[in-house]
Amino acid sequence: MSDPIAVGRSVPRADSEEKVRGEAAYVDDMYLPGMLYGAIAASPYPHARVLGYDLTEALAVPGVKAILTGDDYDLKRRSGAFIKDEMHLAKDKVRFVGEAVGAVAATTLTAAREAARLIGVDYEELPAVLSMDEATAAGAPVIHEDFGSYFSLAPLKADGNLLWRAAIDEGDVDAAWDQCDVIVEGTYETQAQHHAYMEPCGSLAKPERDGRVTVWSTCQSVHLTQQRIAEWIGLPMAMVRSIAPKIGSGFGGKGSPNTQPLAAALAQKTGKPVKMVLSFTEDLETMRSRHPARIRMRTGAKADGTLIAREHIALLDCGAYADDSPAVVSVCCLFGRGPYKIPNYRGRADGVYTNKLRAGAFRGFGGPQATFASESQLDELAAKLNMHPVELRLKNALSTGDKFAGGQTIQASAFTQCLERVRHEAEAAGAGTNAPPGKRRGVGYTGLSHVSGLLGTAARLEMRTDGSAALSTGVVDIGQGSDIALKQICAEAMQLPLERVSFANPDSDTAPFNWKTAASRVTYMAGRAIIAASNEVKEKLLQEASEMMEAPAVDLEIRPGGFVGLKGVPERMLPFAAIAGHSTAMGGGPITGSHSLTFDGERMDPKHATIHGFIFPNIGAYTFGAQACEVEVDEVTGQTKVLRVWSAHDVGRAINPAQIEGQIEGGFIQGMGYALFEELVWDSGRISNPSLMDYKLPGALDSPPEIYPIILEDPEPSGPFGAKGVGEPPLIGAAAVIANAIANAIGGRVRKLPMTPERVLDAMEAAAGE
Ligand code: MOS
Repeated sequence: MSDPIAVGRSVPRADSEEKVRGEAAYVDDMYLPGMLYGAIAASPYPHARVLGYDLTEALAVPGVKAILTGDDYDLKRRSGAFIKDEMHLAKDKVRFVGEAVGAVAATTLTAAREAARLIGVDYEELPAVLSMDEATAAGAPVIHEDFGSYFSLAPLKADGNLLWRAAIDEGDVDAAWDQCDVIVEGTYETQAQHHAYMEPCGSLAKPERDGRVTVWSTCQSVHLTQQRIAEWIGLPMAMVRSIAPKIGSGFGGKGSPNTQPLAAALAQKTGKPVKMVLSFTEDLETMRSRHPARIRMRTGAKADGTLIAREHIALLDCGAYADDSPAVVSVCCLFGRGPYKIPNYRGRADGVYTNKLRAGAFRGFGGPQATFASESQLDELAAKLNMHPVELRLKNALSTGDKFAGGQTIQASAFTQCLERVRHEAEAAGAGTNAPPGKRRGVGYTGLSHVSGLLGTAARLEMRTDGSAALSTGVVDIGQGSDIALKQICAEAMQLPLERVSFANPDSDTAPFNWKTAASRVTYMAGRAIIAASNEVKEKLLQEASEMMEAPAVDLEIRPGGFVGLKGVPERMLPFAAIAGHSTAMGGGPITGSHSLTFDGERMDPKHATIHGFIFPNIGAYTFGAQACEVEVDEVTGQTKVLRVWSAHDVGRAINPAQIEGQIEGGFIQGMGYALFEELVWDSGRISNPSLMDYKLPGALDSPPEIYPIILEDPEPSGPFGAKGVGEPPLIGAAAVIANAIANAIGGRVRKLPMTPERVLDAMEAAAGE
């Protein structure tokens, strides 16, 4: 192939300047004539029966136009990503503090919020389940009495508060312990992290004259949003139009619906447009978090470091509704083995309901929890074996041709190069040395892996009559930069300059389906669909040109810049414009190409592993990475600062290196917040820190002064130009690499996130006492 036209170039995004200038239009920037404002009435109880409503005071608030409660719905229309267990408005029962029990539309936001506060609800409090231990205790109150009757992608068996169980068995773990020279065992705990997207959840719903409803919302998929609005308010999907304006990130938190169904229901009831945008406090209390997890892990190895066996027993707190939990629980189970060869593996992950905020998808999707446990434990094992932590990882690293947990074959991997590179960089930089007085410095390492192929997507391409290409996918760019990367893939495939490719903003009326912007899958999945659609267009261009040039199509070729030429005859060629114009006016018709696919990688292999409860039929295009970091711990306060980070990722092929570097930096910093500060804290069923004052996010001053993104490329054979995803991996290793660096600095280990100064001091004292 000739030199790349677009792929591999750090092309700036089209919307970066308008975003920096504050000119980009997010949903809260939109206004429609006659628009009303919506607000949610939230449950004050973690678990209660709803006996009735008194709307007298709320309806008396001037400006109130409509109030919705469970009484407006005769049917219990339950929906959910995998298990349909949730209604858009509670009916009969509330299951967490913050659950929507009523909704108001009013002429001002103040009136809407005031009326929402004044909705009277008659509750009968029920005993609440506020922790995983309470959820699994014998005789625990059951949060979903009708669980066994819910619609689900797999049959459900009612068993107390158990929501989902995933299991993978490979080899014979029980017999393998005897072959091990060294065994380490530990329990690792992780907390609830909030997505803290820059833009809180919100939507604007407009009733149309023909009975349809149009909804603009901050979301990760216009199609899943369309589906869930339709299900909940009881309309055919054809009556719901879902559009994504600019999105202030999502990180998984906007992959399932937020305010859209309520805004749509209020718009239907009032006949007016309704905008419902949450305050940050409302968002923290009513949306979703990362799953808290407790993982009991045991790993055994030979004296030379060869890993022999692992048991990974995870318990995840899913909160009150299933949301994306079946997927997160599955992924946590899958990634317990990590990117390593361990012939005997027992993975278990149970997700349980509690009367807390629902837990959902969040960058890494169960991987960060499993990776924190796995990579912490590998360092503990390396210490016992007297091995360098990177040597232990290299000895057991998965490479091309090996099988991931579950039995799928890895098609490409630069994992060992990632490990070698971060070690080399950290050592050359003297990481972990030269601590100033009163401080300890340490260096830590981690390996990590993730997926980038999952579920379904589609793309469509049309030639315009001047030879431009109009690309349409269902992909919502949530801020990560996929609009430009996908455009680059299309331009490369069509051999057109970037300015001759347009990219349509996703609208469910016109966009081909995309599952969602999630699971680090967009570049890989949508990229493949785009290349296949482009191939169809190129084929048609060649056919049409063959008639025009009176030459067999096999003798023709696509030439850079938008031409079809006669092979071996440089001067004989036609521009795309002439061919597209001819085809539209008097040939085969407007030239279009489309392609749809569902991830088609190898399925999990029942001969290799016994698998139970894995929610996806297949998953893959595995990605690999390694990180090193240097921390400095204050001996008196226990405070940890991350000084330098080296984060190496095998992206298969870098479509847009600057965007990848941005993902690596941002992902690591979000993971550092997870490692060191962030935690939603519950007190008697209520979140006690629901504001960005009290919920500690890393700021610029906390961010590592030096982050070195390292991009490695081992092309994925099935990937678009070899590319794989990188959205989640930089976060996945962050807690583990920081934990390992802290352990290296202080000689003691923190096995619970966040690694607060108190926990670090405790570990330091425990180590001094040994
Ligand atoms: Mo992302 S956590 O897969 O929406």
